Amino acid sequence: MTQPCRTALITGASVGIGRELAKLFAQNNHNLVLVARNAARLQEVAGDLERQFEVTAKAFPLDLTSSAAPQLLFDQLRRENIAIDVLVNNAGYGKLGAFTQIPYAESAGQIELNITALTHLTKLFLAPMLERKAGRILNVASTAGFQPER
Ligand SMILES: NC(=O)c1ccc[n+]([C@@H]2O[C@H](COP(=O)([O-])OP(=O)(O)OC[C@H]3O[C@@H](n4cnc5c(N)ncnc54)[C@H](OP(=O)(O)O)[C@@H]3O)[C@@H](O)[C@H]2O)c1
Repeated sequence: MTQPCRTALITGASVGIGRELAKLFAQNNHNLVLVARNAARLQEVAGDLERQFEVTAKAFPLDLTSSAAPQLLFDQLRRENIAIDVLVNNAGYGKLGAFTQIPYAESAGQIELNITALTHLTKLFLAPMLERKAGRILNVASTAGFQPER
């Protein structure tokens, strides 16, 4: 079997679209770094993918709404000499409802995850990709972001 030569970092990889993307990258011979808050669920996904596809899958439990989280992740991967070839900014959500009815803390958390963490991760991981002249970034979003609000 060909040895995996690339590593994909996928946020929000414990369930849903992120987990399916992780599976596709593993199928395509990528090692994985998987991020989400729920450590047990993330570890289970990582273990399943390692067994199924003979890749390395590292579970990295982290709350990306914490402002220190992207730098912490970047620094830790550097220490472990893990270069990221593909960054998938997938973690995110949309709270449905009237703008004035959604508490500010809820909206702020959504902005921190969907926008701030995505921007910070992209800045951090893009720089070494540009140095290597190789790399890919996939930002997962929703057309719901273009829906009019009441
Ligand atoms: N589902 C849809 O119909 C749809 C349609 C269009 C676009 N999208 C977009 O696709 C992406 C994935 O959607 P999905 O429906 O698959 O989401 P989901 O099932 O709700 O999964 C969200 C993932 O993000 C993680 N996550 C949530 N908050 C986090 C945080 N603060 N820090 C780190 N990880 C966090 C969750 O794990 P933990 O809870 O363990 O942290 C989980 O792994 C989102 O960006 C969404 O906007 C979804």
